[in-house]
Amino acid sequence: MTPQPLTIDLIGGARPNFMKIAPLHHALARQRWCKPRFVHTGQHYDAGMSDAILHDLHLPAPDISLGVGSGTHGEQTARILIAYEKILLETPPDWAVVVGDVNSTIACALAASKLGIRVAHLEAGLRSRDRTMPEEINRLLTDAIADVLWTPSPDADENLRHEGVASDKIECVGNIMIDSFEMLRPAIETSDATGALGLRHGSFGVMTLHRPSNVDSDERLDRIASVILGACEIAPLVFPVHPRTRKRLEETALLSRLTANRALFLTQPRSYIEFMNLVMNSGFVLTDSGGVQEETTYLNIPCLTLRESTERPITVTAGTNKLVTLDTIIEEIGLAMSGNWKRGRVPDLWDGLTADRVVHSIRRRARA
Ligand code: UD1
Repeated sequence: MTPQPLTIDLIGGARPNFMKIAPLHHALARQRWCKPRFVHTGQHYDAGMSDAILHDLHLPAPDISLGVGSGTHGEQTARILIAYEKILLETPPDWAVVVGDVNSTIACALAASKLGIRVAHLEAGLRSRDRTMPEEINRLLTDAIADVLWTPSPDADENLRHEGVASDKIECVGNIMIDSFEMLRPAIETSDATGALGLRHGSFGVMTLHRPSNVDSDERLDRIASVILGACEIAPLVFPVHPRTRKRLEETALLSRLTANRALFLTQPRSYIEFMNLVMNSGFVLTDSGGVQEETTYLNIPCLTLRESTERPITVTAGTNKLVTLDTIIEEIGLAMSGNWKRGRVPDLWDGLTADRVVHSIRRRARA
C-alpha cells in the first residue's frame, strides 16, 4: 500500500510571510510524498497587503482562511490560536511550518505544539535583543517550542545554541526571501513601477515605515515627517504607506503636510513585483522593516534602517545596511546619493535555493 502523502501546513498571516512561504509551497507541491496546505490567518486582509502579493508570488487561494483580522496583540493572537486549533483538531497535518516573527507565527506554533504536531520555524534564531518589539517576543517563544529551527545565517545558529537549543534541531538553510526574488526576477526587472512615476534609475529613494516604535508616538511621527521633507530636498522619495502608518498620519494631520510636497510620492502599499522594481532602481532605501534590510543587502543597495537595533546584524556587518537616527538620516542620504557607501557582500546560502534545502530537511526528518 502506498503511504498517504504527508500534509504540511504553511502558515501565512501578514504581508512579509507570503514571500517566505511561496517558494516553499511551490517546492513542496512538486513532491509526491507530501502536499502543502496553505493556511491564511487573515492577520493582513487588505487587497494591497495580501491578495496582490499572493498573486505576484503565484500562491494559490488559501486552502484554509481563518479570517481573524486586526485587534490588540492579545485579541489577535488568541483568535488565531483558537481558530487554528479547531482546524488542527478536525484535520491535523503532519507538520506545521511557521515563518517569520508576526503574531500568526507564535499563535499557530503554540496551537500545533500543544497538540503534538511537529512545528518547524523558518527564519529561526534572529534576535534584536529588544523585548519592547512585539516581534522579539514572538521569535523567542516560537523558537522555544519549535521542533525544527531553520535559520538564515550563522549568527542565528549561534543565538539558538546560546539559548540552549539542541544542535540537531538547528539547520542553517539560508534566506528564503531570496528565492522569491530570484523566482520573480524577470518580472521585477521588466516592471514599469519606476518608469510610471517618471523616475530614473539611481535618482531616488524608497521608504517604508510601520514599526510601532516609529509611528505610534505623535511626537516621533512629527519629527519623522520633518526629516522626510528634508530628505526630499536631496532626492525624490517613494513612500508606499502601510495601513498602520496611514491611519496614524491621518490622525495626526501630518498626511496633508506630506502630500503637499511634489518630491514625495506617497502611494498605497505596492505589490511585491512593483516594490522590488522600485528598490532595485533606487539610490537608497530608508526603512524600519526587517525583510527590506535583507533584500537591499542582496541587491547591494544602500539601506538606512531607522531603528536602534536589528535582528539581522549580518546585513550591517556583511551587507549594505546602517542603523540611523533622526539626527543622522540626512547626512547618510547625502553619502548614499553621492556614491560614498560601503560595498556589501551577499551572505552565504542567500542563493535562491533555500526552499530546496528545506524540502530535503523535511524529507530526511520525516523518514527518521
Ligand atoms: C505586522 C507584524 C510586523 C510586520 C508587519 C508587516 C506583528 C506583531 N506585527 O505589523 O511584525 O513587520 O505586520 O506589515 O505581527 N491594517 C489594515 N489592513 C490590513 C492589515 C492591517 O488596515 O490588511 C491596519 C489595522 O488598523 C491594524 C494595523 O494596520 O490594526 C496593524 O496591523 P497588525 O497586523 O496588527 O500589525 P502590523 O503593524 O501590520
